[in-house]
Amino acid sequence: MPNRKTQRLRVLVTAGPTRERVDPVRFLTNDSSGRMGFAIAEAAARAGHRVVLVAGPVALATPKGVRRIDVESAREMLAACREEWRESQALFMAAAVADWRPAKQLAGKWRAKDGGATTARIDLVRNPDVLATLTRGKRHPDRIVVAFALETGDGERRARAKLAQKGADWIVLNGPSALDADTTRLIVLGANGVRITIPERSKKAAARDLLALLRD
Ligand code: CTP
Repeated sequence: MPNRKTQRLRVLVTAGPTRERVDPVRFLTNDSSGRMGFAIAEAAARAGHRVVLVAGPVALATPKGVRRIDVESAREMLAACREEWRESQALFMAAAVADWRPAKQLAGKWRAKDGGATTARIDLVRNPDVLATLTRGKRHPDRIVVAFALETGDGERRARAKLAQKGADWIVLNGPSALDADTTRLIVLGANGVRITIPERSKKAAARDLLALLRD
């Protein structure tokens, strides 16, 4: 197995939300700003790793030394990640991938032509799970996979379950207050049972702390 303490790794980072189109001018999305993933990409590049950043639609500048691939939907994110994961040794899956997409994407604008209608519905279908597809749900001894979870309520129990289901080595847990914020407070759970807390700090500082996971 390569010595990760000294090696320059190829690191894949995902960031931001995905957009799931309803029609040419409307979509479903979420509040992810992409800041955590971009901060990780920047910190990893500064640490000398080769970094590929697969980004959903966000208004952030590409960090220096990072190769960026812009995507829109979960399915586009999966296609880009599949390609890049083949050559990568580490993954930080920070993107807030939409779990659902409209079953039909309308070619033209959705018009409320029935003047009388006061309700309407959009049927949704499940998106692929990008992370579970890449890992095939199991851990790989020669690669490091870091998942993220934004949880409300009993977050740690749910995050532990996701860690196992998605074949990740670590899961980084934060609360909804981190959304679109400059700072974050994190709990990191390891498949090896380790629990690390990162107290409230800027996302850039937290990203530097998370890079230590590549060495453990
Ligand atoms: N994830 C993914 N593809 C999806 C959904 C989530 O790759 N379709 C990844 C996220 O990027 C994150 C991890 O899985 O690293 C956990 O995401 P989260 O949204 O918390 O988990 P879900 O499986 O979507 O569960 P929940 O029902 O709580 O939303």
